[in-house]
Amino acid sequence: MQHFNFYIPVMIKFGIGLWEKIPEESYSLGAKKVLIVTGKKHLKSTGILDKLLNIYNNYPIDVYVFDEVPPEPPYYIVDQGAEIAKTKGIDLVIGIGGGSALDVAKAIAVKVNLPGTIWDYIGDNSNKITIKGLPTILVPTTAGTASEVTRVSVLINPETKEKLSIRHDFLYATLAIIDPYLTLSLPKENTAYSGIDAFIHSLESFLSVNSNMVTEPLALTALRTIYKYLPRVYNNLERIDLREKVLYASTISGIAFTQTGLGGIHALAHPIGVYANIPHGLACALVTIPTLEYNLEILSREKISALGRAIGVYSLRSAKEKILKKIDEFFSILNIKLGLHNYGIKWEDLPNIAQEVPKSGSYKTNPRTLNYETVLEILKKAF
Ligand SMILES: [Fe+2]
Repeated sequence: MQHFNFYIPVMIKFGIGLWEKIPEESYSLGAKKVLIVTGKKHLKSTGILDKLLNIYNNYPIDVYVFDEVPPEPPYYIVDQGAEIAKTKGIDLVIGIGGGSALDVAKAIAVKVNLPGTIWDYIGDNSNKITIKGLPTILVPTTAGTASEVTRVSVLINPETKEKLSIRHDFLYATLAIIDPYLTLSLPKENTAYSGIDAFIHSLESFLSVNSNMVTEPLALTALRTIYKYLPRVYNNLERIDLREKVLYASTISGIAFTQTGLGGIHALAHPIGVYANIPHGLACALVTIPTLEYNLEILSREKISALGRAIGVYSLRSAKEKILKKIDEFFSILNIKLGLHNYGIKWEDLPNIAQEVPKSGSYKTNPRTLNYETVLEILKKAF
């Protein structure tokens, strides 16, 4: 028997229309002063923020809105939000939005009780977090990062061009409200990018050195579901039934990868995202095929066979080539243009990017050991 740990202390509530229960859930958690953490536009332009504030009027709860979260959030946004939370005496943090808003919300909640800046706790310094933060409700409006069920918060340091994560059990949400309705307004491109992110989470969790008997079926189901439904959502953005499938898959891939960690694709995608200033899911797509090609060489027949079946490759004959081809086709259905050179990355940037890769937590859980040379080789192939 295999040894494994599995811990996910998040109450998950999944279903269409549940977002309207956010005020009621806040009240049930005993909140008196909540801070809603979100991005600048989406929640306002869709009218959801106003509706939500209206519902809050029925409860004895003061609501503050911190809508300063940009895509690829810099660490100091967390410090600013935590300062506000402290000054106002906030007792519940609510993150609503894409991965950035949720990552910032959970980091604000934990930062409230910590000295210094949140960047002091990034990467390997995450274990310096010894005090629990405020409770959180996390509500995704994209189907991709699965931040609402993970112990990870990804932040950027614009000065050093680093994109790193805090990983800690205290970052788990108290409650995740996962409502497919909120993903309906996600534009076409972002639907593809966030769905690809979820696809890669499933893939990398399945291949991770920590993949186990509990996470494997979750990762494979997510992989199969996203492979099947993401292209259909992409061409039918208004179909909530299809959105629901992809959001469900994103959720279970998050439950899997928060246990297993990710792999080389994410380790490479983080510095690429910073260098090229492109969405995370796109950065992942750009390095998926050469990284997977590298990993496939050492995978067991069982792994290759299970991975193949999830994406429509049913025979082991030339399975590696067929798997790579299927994924290439999947990206092209989603109109992803591959090639790092198409996104402002120069050949001479590659060694600098390769230097950054080992800093990522995902580097250690790749199924095949990586080093500077192999990473550089993958980057050249992805160029
Ligand atoms: Fe990701």
